Amino acid sequence: MKTENFKTELIRITDPDASAFDLECAASILRAGGLVVFPTETVYGLGGDATAAGAAQKIYAAKGRPSNNPLIIHIAEPADAERYAVTNELYYKLAHAFMPGPLTVILPKRPTIPHEVTGGLDTVAVRCPSHPVARALIARFGLPIAAPSANISGRPSPTSVEYCISDLDGKVDMIIDGGECDIGIESTIVMIKDHGVVLLRPGAVTYDALCCVCESVELSAAAAGVTAENERPIAPGMMYRHYAPTSAFVLLDGDESAFLPYIAARRAAGERCAVICSIEEARQLGEQETIIYGGPHDLAQQAHRLFSALREADALGCSVIYARKPPTDGLGLALYNRMIRAASHTVIKI
Ligand code: TXA
Ligand code: MG
Repeated sequence: MKTENFKTELIRITDPDASAFDLECAASILRAGGLVVFPTETVYGLGGDATAAGAAQKIYAAKGRPSNNPLIIHIAEPADAERYAVTNELYYKLAHAFMPGPLTVILPKRPTIPHEVTGGLDTVAVRCPSHPVARALIARFGLPIAAPSANISGRPSPTSVEYCISDLDGKVDMIIDGGECDIGIESTIVMIKDHGVVLLRPGAVTYDALCCVCESVELSAAAAGVTAENERPIAPGMMYRHYAPTSAFVLLDGDESAFLPYIAARRAAGERCAVICSIEEARQLGEQETIIYGGPHDLAQQAHRLFSALREADALGCSVIYARKPPTDGLGLALYNRMIRAASHTVIKI
């Protein structure tokens, strides 16, 4: 729902040191309670003043997101968390190991963060991104920026500015183009529990990496991609159908020797299907309606491409999109978590 007379300004920032004027314009929009889409190393964020209830309400409205699904606050330095959350020793251990970078830590909130930002919860999700444009914007603004991923609720998170424009043009004051996001999937989210953490959403900071810093790492059902009956997810966002393309998306559980004949048989039977696969697999399947998302074992490249591959596959208008179920160790767990939710848990063993 694009509003008449509401114009979104699009600017490009590659070098924050050379863009003081543009960053000041963006910061002044945030100070006035407006919304700015900005790049991070994970995905683009839809930002507003994290200390203002009104800005949070605007974010929920622009994104079409239920207001009980809390937002992450983005800070410029790990120690800035003090003013907004109750930190502890483990927070600083995690910060030392992984910040700035793709890790979000859930902590008890202080009154400086309104309940509108945290979806009514007494905890707040804190993240210190490493992207130079994000850091420069937060530093210039001087307060934390509340930002969910800059997509319309339910769509894949945007990893390049084109997707932010197609989802949010006319609904936000400014979009900052900072190029493609490096990582391509959202941050790892943990909640501190005693001397360990509960992993709520897997990301580029992997389970194994967390184990090197924490005494214990508990994998929540939502992070593992399991639908546990009767379990209410601790991260409210994990309840919602997510990243879902319009075409049906189906994960195929089997190796390459079963995958290629399966697709060939579906196509021979007249099914118009799109396939998200590795370069090697694409070579054997042929170019048509085949979206390449990375080398066969290059999980970082697959993560980098996953959300745009989903959007590209969807744009083909096929009745179904197939992809092979990724491994569930290392970065594979983060990929699997996004794919199983995009597929609404539809997996076919082949
Ligand atoms: O990489 C990222 O984390 C990106 C970039 C923009 O920073 N942001 C992002 O935000 O993915 P969003 O809103 O799309 O996802 C945040 C998730 C949601 O599932 C939300 O429910 C959960 O974090 N969350 C936020 N605050 C929480 C809290 N206090 N307790 C539990 N879960 C929380
Ligand atoms: Mg999101």
